[in-house]
Amino acid sequence: MADALKIGIAGLGTVGASLVRILQQRGNELAVACGRGITITAVSARDRTRDRGVDLSGVTWFDDPVDMAAGADIDVFVELMGGAEGAADKSVRAALARGVHVVTANKALLARHGVELAKTAEEKGALLNYEAAVAGGIPVIKTMRESLTGNTFSRVYGIMNGTCNYILTRMEKEGLSFEACLKEAQRLGYAEADPTFDIEGNDTAHKLAILTTLAFGNKIAADDIYLEGISNISIDDIHAAADLGYRIKLLGVAQKTETGIEQRVHPTMVPYDSVIAQVDGVTNAVAIESDILGELLMVGPGAGGNATASAVLGDITDIAKSRPGAQRVPAFGRPAHLLETYRQAEMQSHEGGYFIRLAVQDRTGVFASIASKMAENGISLESIMQRSKKQHAEGEPQTIILVTHATMEASVRKAVASIKTEGYLVGEPQVIRIERPKTV
Ligand code: NAP
Ligand code: HSE
Repeated sequence: MADALKIGIAGLGTVGASLVRILQQRGNELAVACGRGITITAVSARDRTRDRGVDLSGVTWFDDPVDMAAGADIDVFVELMGGAEGAADKSVRAALARGVHVVTANKALLARHGVELAKTAEEKGALLNYEAAVAGGIPVIKTMRESLTGNTFSRVYGIMNGTCNYILTRMEKEGLSFEACLKEAQRLGYAEADPTFDIEGNDTAHKLAILTTLAFGNKIAADDIYLEGISNISIDDIHAAADLGYRIKLLGVAQKTETGIEQRVHPTMVPYDSVIAQVDGVTNAVAIESDILGELLMVGPGAGGNATASAVLGDITDIAKSRPGAQRVPAFGRPAHLLETYRQAEMQSHEGGYFIRLAVQDRTGVFASIASKMAENGISLESIMQRSKKQHAEGEPQTIILVTHATMEASVRKAVASIKTEGYLVGEPQVIRIERPKTV
């Protein structure tokens, strides 16, 4: 049997501790599958005294992950700390600089520095593997990068954040508050160290940017994504959506248009009977549309220690099985220097249906005014309704809900801006895009 693959793991939190546990429990099976053992020779975390429920005796501890990446006796540096800068960035660079393979689950790092890191990896003959960075345990990176080579992609979209999907599902099904659901997602190890990355959509944007690059061969453009999170979604929106036959999901969507690539992340109403509407809890779903294969939908656990560690483990075993000197798969499917300049499509030109919820003063003519503002902007309405409580107090605002047929984003924005000038709105209007997935 070949020498064991020596790995160093930086980060022993939710994902890192699960990975160590699995490697220790499955040592024999992995050695048979890979034709060689996998040995953890070094680890790093911030707090050496913390009990992580795993046995680290005989493993060299590094207080500084950069020292580990630069100097430990390892073949693979596994980065499971998180963050686009600081220790994660420095240590990954240090490992690649000396030709040590890198496995990471860090989408924030890849979204910020991925192209540069891929270039260094290629120059040094090292692998940069990151299956766990997008959609947790779902093997979407390898599928897009390797299994679908030769396909021309037209669209990739999906539910890519387990925390948000968990929150929206539990709010809808159990009537729990947003805050209670988020707390639970944190307790279960789904959320990022800073959960605003989840709920404001940044995490989905990081993942989408990576998938966009794999799909369209452009340089990663995470800063050019239209972004809206779920923190403004209320239980009233969720109920109104249900009454209309929709569910609300945080979707990331990337598609090729005539004017460039459109990348957007926002809460989306999807028809109740679509497959994607039925994806609940921490589960993620990624739909990939391409010319040879057609539509592929991948559904599976999107976050959590074991689900994520499973993907990390797949990346490590790929390296264990690879032959020294063998051709390396480029991190983003093509050599980094061949990634093209990103051309962004204007969000204003997005065309789809819209749900608009307005709280308005209870006075004559408001309903008619709203309908005429829509018409003035060329917006055709599928429905418009006033939701009144049977008994409401004098002066209490009324809710008006509009659902439009497919229309331009710019028209909706203009109509809403025009309604705002009329003086009868109470608070901010809620606008949620409606998406009708082709087959899913
Ligand atoms: P976590 O539970 O917060 O663990 C982070 C670990 O990194 C901790 O062990 C921490 O040390 C260590 N660490 C942080 N900064 C460090 C530094 N400067 N030096 C040394 N160690 C440092 O995070 P996680 O949930 O496991 O996530 C890890 C990575 O996987 C992130 O990139 C995340 O986005 C990604 N990811 C997570 C999931 C998930 O479901 N959790 C899924 C997919 C991808 P201490 O323990 O001593 O504080
Ligand atoms: N915080 C992320 C999520 C972890 O909830 O999806 C998985 O990437």
